[in-house]
Amino acid sequence: MIRLDSIKVSFGDFNAIPHLDLHVRPGEFFTLLGPSGCGKTTALRTLAGFIQPAGGTVTVDGKDVTRLPSDKRQVGMVFQNYALFPSMSVWENIAFGLRVRKEKGADSDRMVRDIAHRVELSDEQLAKNVAELSGGQQQRVAVARALVLRPKILLLDEPLSNLDAKLRHQLRQQLKDLQSEFGITTVYVTHDQDEALAMSDRVAVFNKGVVEQVGTPQEIYDHAATEFVCNFIGDSSTLTPEFVAQVNAASGAQLSTRASSYLRVEKASLDAPAGGGTAVGLPGKVLSRTYHGLHSRYVVRSHGADIRLLVREDGGAHPEPGTETTVYVRPDHILQYHSETGAALQEQDRQDQAVALP
Ligand SMILES: Nc1ncnc2c1ncn2[C@@H]1O[C@H](COP(=O)(O)OP(=O)(O)O)[C@@H](O)[C@H]1O
Ligand SMILES: [Mg+2]
Repeated sequence: MIRLDSIKVSFGDFNAIPHLDLHVRPGEFFTLLGPSGCGKTTALRTLAGFIQPAGGTVTVDGKDVTRLPSDKRQVGMVFQNYALFPSMSVWENIAFGLRVRKEKGADSDRMVRDIAHRVELSDEQLAKNVAELSGGQQQRVAVARALVLRPKILLLDEPLSNLDAKLRHQLRQQLKDLQSEFGITTVYVTHDQDEALAMSDRVAVFNKGVVEQVGTPQEIYDHAATEFVCNFIGDSSTLTPEFVAQVNAASGAQLSTRASSYLRVEKASLDAPAGGGTAVGLPGKVLSRTYHGLHSRYVVRSHGADIRLLVREDGGAHPEPGTETTVYVRPDHILQYHSETGAALQEQDRQDQAVALP
């Protein structure tokens, strides 16, 4: 559906995007995720036709659109700040693109009303000035304004980031429902990993203008391909070589003690897992406990590593800070990355790098 091949974008002598290949499938909800300044907006604007790349091609539906102006690409775009026309009514904002296209009369009116209802804007709200609406309502106007033109592709640049947390959660689901109802191929930009995991069919994780990994939310979470992705997504503890060596000693695993090693918070436990399995218990000391309602967050120091983990409030032991305890981990849950390249270690690399223990 959408292909970016060898796209390169520079601002003066700054290479914002050195080399980008992306392939978005028809009907897909595809997210560009990465920290601020990594080139997400630049990639989206290149796709929309607001930026001319210094190299590479943009293809939509098999057609090369690299040199096509934005208004000929059939893309709808929603900007972070909405970019609505403040002196116009909600109705006029949504109808703006239709006016430009010289679509008039009953048809145009019907399209505006239809799309407004689908994003849950009432007739009363349609008559208001946009400045009278809340942030969340303005965001819907921006989406309606893009969708009314029946674009082939919908591009959304951090559309929820100006809203408060609760509203953001609500609108997340509404946007997602709207997208699947319309079945429109969507490229979504966010720096919020939670949003990306919850909404997307697939995610591309960006770092400094380069895609580090493309995959489903689960692939990216469970099998982060690089150290950057592992750190950016989810919540992990950094393990020390001593800790990894002790896991090897206790389990017979052959993890590398020279790699950068991590463990997700939800993979460590203070309870021996039922049935034993491959988990090993290592001695540790509770450094801190913070209460979060559903669970407590612990930091337990073991073999020089500060292991962060969660204990549900309705089950398990709740040792106090200063207490000696045991932390349970499974060797196959330890994520390992080459300490120089940041690439995920495969089983064979782990064994090659494993250090013989005394
Ligand atoms: N028009 C521009 N001129 C010069 N530098 C720019 C311009 N637009 C973006 N940049 C730079 O390109 C990099 C990527 O920016 P951007 O795509 O906006 O990142 P993101 O959307 O991921 O926060 C940043 O370092 C930014 O400062
Ligand atoms: Mg941006």
